[in-house]
Amino acid sequence: MRILSGIQSSGKQHIGNYYGALRQFVDLQNRGEALYFIANLHALTTVRDPVAAASLTRETAMAFLALGLDPARAILFRQSDIPEVTELYWILGTVVPLSNLDRAHSYKDKISKGISADFGLFAYPVLMAADILLYGSDLVPVGRDQVQHLEFARDWATKFNLTYVPGYDASDPTGATSGKPGVLKLPEALVQEATATVPGTDGQKMSKSYNNTIDLFGEEGEVKKRIMGIKTDSTPVEAPKPVDGALYQLLKVMVPGTDFPAIDQAWREGGKGYGDFKKTLLAAYHATFGQARARYQALQKDPGAVDAILRAGAERARAVAAPVIERVRQAVGIER
Ligand code: ADP
Ligand code: TRP
Repeated sequence: MRILSGIQSSGKQHIGNYYGALRQFVDLQNRGEALYFIANLHALTTVRDPVAAASLTRETAMAFLALGLDPARAILFRQSDIPEVTELYWILGTVVPLSNLDRAHSYKDKISKGISADFGLFAYPVLMAADILLYGSDLVPVGRDQVQHLEFARDWATKFNLTYVPGYDASDPTGATSGKPGVLKLPEALVQEATATVPGTDGQKMSKSYNNTIDLFGEEGEVKKRIMGIKTDSTPVEAPKPVDGALYQLLKVMVPGTDFPAIDQAWREGGKGYGDFKKTLLAAYHATFGQARARYQALQKDPGAVDAILRAGAERARAVAAPVIERVRQAVGIER
């Protein structure tokens, strides 16, 4: 089974990215042939500063590695190191109905947040579909917000196969009975329901674009400030606390399952103030990410090693892509 996912290097990774994405990626490296990439071409839709683009790409790679991605098992690479992906992006784009892109949720969300409506942002799902289809991926772990993009990838792979594979039967995509498998394999999304949405310090969804993040590898003083600044209500110390809100949700996500019941009880009984619970959360943050932070700091001192891992990963990823892009070229009539 081939597992693939990508994460944009559009900002510093935060704990929402960890519980919503990175943690599953690392776990899944044991379940099959895993390919993970840093979507630094996608990030260009929002990062316009070349120095930041380069350093965020490296920081995202270091975050993957610090959190336990094992480059001996999983293939870690930069999207931009694979020229075949932009080739497939173009070819695929020739069969993409504009009406699909018009109804893309993530495009509309981003526009409503004030990101400029450029062609790259509009075409974002086509590059993402190329990312997935180029490696013949079976399983794509993603957050809820990415499910529509996966549906597009499946639809466009089907459209491509119907257009270019004589005798292709869309109800039999692997060609089990027709003997005509598609050139592009249909991927499945894997959505992690349990962690759903991690709230930010203001109670909204934690997101790089809301300035409400708790960063995974942020400066320790800043992390403490963010945690101590989590928005709470004015329930007095003695009173039981309402079981909702960012602080409660974050404790639930970060405190180990065995320790949470005691905290939950204290929360519901009253007698402890929000400040104390914030200190508990800060301790849980350090307990959870302390080791990863130490690994991250070691990687920061050895950028050459990170670059070498990415280069080796790109080579392996291109080898996986080679037979697929070759079949695509033949199918459309541009073989070399
Ligand atoms: P951001 O909103 O900070 O820009 P991205 O859109 O780059 O984050 O998301 C990267 C991955 O992390 C996606 O798979 C997304 O679903 C997941 N993710 C982002 N924020 C959260 C969150 N607050 N809770 C759970 N998962 C999240
Ligand atoms: N769009 C994804 C996100 O914002 C990142 C991404 C780019 C991706 N290409 C991908 C995820 C391919 C999975 C597969 O989270």
